[in-house]
Parts: sequence; structure tokens; C-alpha cells
Amino acid sequence: MLPYSRQTISNADVEAIVAALRSDWLTTGPAVEAFENEFAKSTQSTEAVAFCNGTAALHAAMAVLGIGPDDEVIVPAITFVATANAVLYQGGVPVFADVDAQTLLLDPDHVERLITKQTRAIIAVDYAGQPCDYQALSDIARRHGLAIVADACHSVGARFGESPVGSLADLTCFSFHPVKPMTTAEGGMVTTRDRDLAAALRKFRNHGIAKDFRQREAALTYEYDMSELGFNYRLSDLHAALGLSQLKQLDDFRKARSLVAGWYRDRLVPLKGLIDPLEQREECVNAWHLFVVRIRHGCGITRDHLFRELRAADIGVNVHYLPVYLHSYYRGQFGYRRGLCPVAEKAHAEILSLPIFPGMTEDEVDRVCSFIERSIAMGFRTCAA
Ligand SMILES: Cc1ncc(COP(=O)(O)O)c(C=O)c1O
Repeated sequence: MLPYSRQTISNADVEAIVAALRSDWLTTGPAVEAFENEFAKSTQSTEAVAFCNGTAALHAAMAVLGIGPDDEVIVPAITFVATANAVLYQGGVPVFADVDAQTLLLDPDHVERLITKQTRAIIAVDYAGQPCDYQALSDIARRHGLAIVADACHSVGARFGESPVGSLADLTCFSFHPVKPMTTAEGGMVTTRDRDLAAALRKFRNHGIAKDFRQREAALTYEYDMSELGFNYRLSDLHAALGLSQLKQLDDFRKARSLVAGWYRDRLVPLKGLIDPLEQREECVNAWHLFVVRIRHGCGITRDHLFRELRAADIGVNVHYLPVYLHSYYRGQFGYRRGLCPVAEKAHAEILSLPIFPGMTEDEVDRVCSFIERSIAMGFRTCAA
């Protein structure tokens, strides 16, 4: 099966994990600290705080911003459920904004129309690896006194102009799940330039206790105080050792994904109007977590039909995502119905994520595209019959 994405693990990665395994620390120790320092540098942020996954990172971001009952947080309709769930974990209210029809990124105009007295923050999701319009979103946030959280779980290594993702929002949350642009197996990170927020994040990931085990050892004390309710959201040194090693390869991974995206874009030109890749904004460097195309209505075949045909041919396509509010939990708990975000709903019926990962060859891209061409030709023939 050609997967829609997969990790790239080098000998150096294996050696890094083995070295960590042979060290004195397995849980949060010097490798986590080193990973955080390198990650902060690479994202031009002063602070980076590691978490056990991206969902925990998002939850922590909501907690340290003080999101609580009745606070509204604007999130895009098209994202993984974890983005909106993080708001619910704090008792807040996720308010779903529609997306731009060309990029499927948060639509700043719709965001502004949704702002009420209860709005506290905006979570911008860099869907598929392309950074959101942080200029427009920052203007809105400044005018209304809101915080911006970037859900950059797709976009580690991407840039908006000269600025790396990680430096564009008050808090930026990353995921290092294996399908993502770099991996720690499971893992996450929050970057910020605010020292107080960083201290609060560290406390939140450690049960609400400010001093961690290493700090207590260094201070020759056994005492600790839990001053707030927190969680065990720590990353281990094994995962961090892998993260440090992967971070060194991130730019190569990004270039390799970008090459694959370029092959697809060239190869799909003759199918323009039938199979359309998402629009790329010139000022951005994309991390290419996903290569998403839209199967247009006139192409003689539906997205679901094409999905089934490609899967049957061992081509691991996927669909990212059903608008969050259409999941049964959201419908059941909050009474959401179709019609809330029409652009997202129309897009969901048309989108397909094609395989993309470092090491994917031009021949493999050609195989995927040839298969799509054949399916469309068959579809037209069936329609005509
Ligand atoms: C947009 C988005 N946000 C959050 C997450 C959650 O990350 P994790 O799986 O590391 O918890 C994901 C993971 O797929 C994601 O795609």
C-alpha cells in the first residue's frame, strides 16, 4: 500500500534513541531540554515546551490562556477534532468559522463576523501544511483584544514570508505524530515568546507543580507544591532524542515533500477544472503535510467513488476532514446541523488527500495520477452510456 503519509527514520534516528535508552534518563530529562532549546531556535521563538502529543499541547494552550466556561474560541470548521476538543476540555465553547474556498484555511472575514463579547481567542489551523493569513488574523486579534493560537500540527518547518511557523502567534502548537512532517512517534510542542506563558505551560504539563524532579534534585529538596490542577502531559527523553535527530533532517524532509508536490502539480495540469490542487499562497513556504485535491462536480466521478477505486488499487488516499461540528458528538451535544459553514461542507464532499512523503518517487506520483486519469475516463464513459 502506498500510504498517504509516513515517517522517515534514518540510522542516526535509531542511534539517537539507543543512546537515550542507555542514558540515566528515560522520562523528561536532558534530551527534552535540548530538544526544546533547538526547537525554539529553529522557530525563532524564545520558549518551547514539549508535550506528549499535539492534543495535550492544544489543551495546555487553552488552559494557560485562561479559557473557561462560556469563553468562546473561534476554530475552523475543517480541522482534526482535537483542535475544537481542546476548547471543550476547558469548558469553553468552540465557535466554528468557515474556510477560504481556495486554500481551506480560516477565512478572516468570517472570523471577524463571529466575534462577540465572549470571544477570547482564535485557533488558526495551518491546514495541510500551509500557514494561515497571520497578518489578517493578527490585525483582527489586536483590534478585538484576542489571543491567537496557531494549530501548526501540519506545518512544522513552514514559513509565512521570512517568519517560521512557531513565531507567528501568541502560542503555537505542534504534533510529531508519525504522519507529520517530522516525528517523535507521539509528541507535541508549544512555542511562545512569553516567559510567563511558558512557565504556566511547564507547570500544566507536570500536574500543576512548578518544580520538576530535576529542579528538586538540584536544589537538594524533596518538597514540592501543587498550586493548580494540571496533568501528566510530559514527553520522555526517548521521544525527545528522536525529535532532536529528526529536527536536523526537517529541512530535507520539507524539500523532499515539496518536490513530490511539484510533480503532482505539473502532472495534474491537464486535469484542471476536474481535479484541482489547493491554491498555494506565494508568500508562504508550505510544509506539505498533505497533498489535497478537489474532485470537481463535472469530472464524471464522485470523490467517494474515486476514493474506493484508489484504495482498491493499494493507493492510500484519505479524506481530511469532515467539518468538526458534523461529528455525532457535536451534533448530539450541541445540536449542530448542516448549513453552518457552507464552504467547508462543499469542500468536504470534494477533497481527497493523495500520498505524499519524503522518498516518494516521480514514478509513484505518475502511477497515482495515471490511475486518476483512467478512473475519470471510465466515469465519463459510464455517464455517456
Ligand atoms: C490539525 C491537528 N490538530 C491537532 C492534532 C493532534 O495531534 P496529536 O495526534 O499529536 O495529538 C492533529 C493530529 O492529527 C491535527 O492534525
